[in-house]
Amino acid sequence: MRDQTGNVLESSVPKVLITRRWPLAVEAELQRRYELTIRNSALSVAEWHSALKEYDAICPCVIDKISADMLKVISPRTRLFANFGVGYNHIDLVAAAARGISVTNTPDVLTHATADLAMTIMLMLARRAGEGERQLRSRQWHGWYPTHLMGTQVTGATLGIIGMGRIGMAMAQKAHDGFGMKILYHNRKPVNESVVYAMKAEYCADMQDLLQRSDFVALHCPGGKNNRHLINAEALAQMKPGAFLINTARGDVVDEDALVTALQKGQIAGAGLDVFEREPEVAAALLAMENVVLLPHLGSATTATREAMGWRVLSNLDAFFKNEPLPDRVV
Ligand code: DGY
Repeated sequence: MRDQTGNVLESSVPKVLITRRWPLAVEAELQRRYELTIRNSALSVAEWHSALKEYDAICPCVIDKISADMLKVISPRTRLFANFGVGYNHIDLVAAAARGISVTNTPDVLTHATADLAMTIMLMLARRAGEGERQLRSRQWHGWYPTHLMGTQVTGATLGIIGMGRIGMAMAQKAHDGFGMKILYHNRKPVNESVVYAMKAEYCADMQDLLQRSDFVALHCPGGKNNRHLINAEALAQMKPGAFLINTARGDVVDEDALVTALQKGQIAGAGLDVFEREPEVAAALLAMENVVLLPHLGSATTATREAMGWRVLSNLDAFFKNEPLPDRVV
């Protein structure tokens, strides 16, 4: 818009960029409240720099790696990264804070969807479901016989949870209540929650103890430099030969090369991965293995959850532009 003398007038409606398509209902509401730009592909460094000059808030997601280099802009207009997702290890928080950019995330709303997916992977791995489906679809199934695709019993087995936060606790509860599993957990400190006591979950201060005793090990800890390669060759060597590893957390928590070696040597029985160290690249060796379940980062991918994540971002944007405390402030 221009004034009578032809000068460009700045709109008072905040300018917001979302870096990928969102559920339509949320996009429509964003459009109603803000001057919205929807982008549907990765931004180059130069595009990040110009976006930081143009938008009041940017809503990235896990696939947008926001490094310190991306943020090298003098006096950015952007004051908020309202992340679409609970994990924020893809954002350099120190660099963002140094430029006066706040960061929010979307906790709580994806807990059950992600824990449900971890259960799906556990069951698929144990019962060789992917392998069976591949066999059937390639017309290699020639009928029932007593030793066909014999798997591992989930009911009554021991599940070791690494990272007993919201998602870890939800998986533990589903596994305990639904499948009678014994729960072990490793965390920075014991969790003082009634649900943890109710399922008699046993705290393992030493991760090695959990690795040695679990039939299934599920990762639910945050990504980032503190947990990078937490599951390395030494950790994998501690697991039982018949045990399975499940990762729905972040790819870099597992040393993927060490995992490939452990699987090739038969040190563990299998692995189920929803996240990858070099995502979306997946190691060719994994693709060739029958005893792995590989999913394309589907943890939160239900319609209800993705919409809830969008609404949660929206409430952070609204609070920010009304100068109210941010409901889900990270920095
Ligand atoms: C999350 O919310 O962290 C999911 O992994 C998708 O980003």
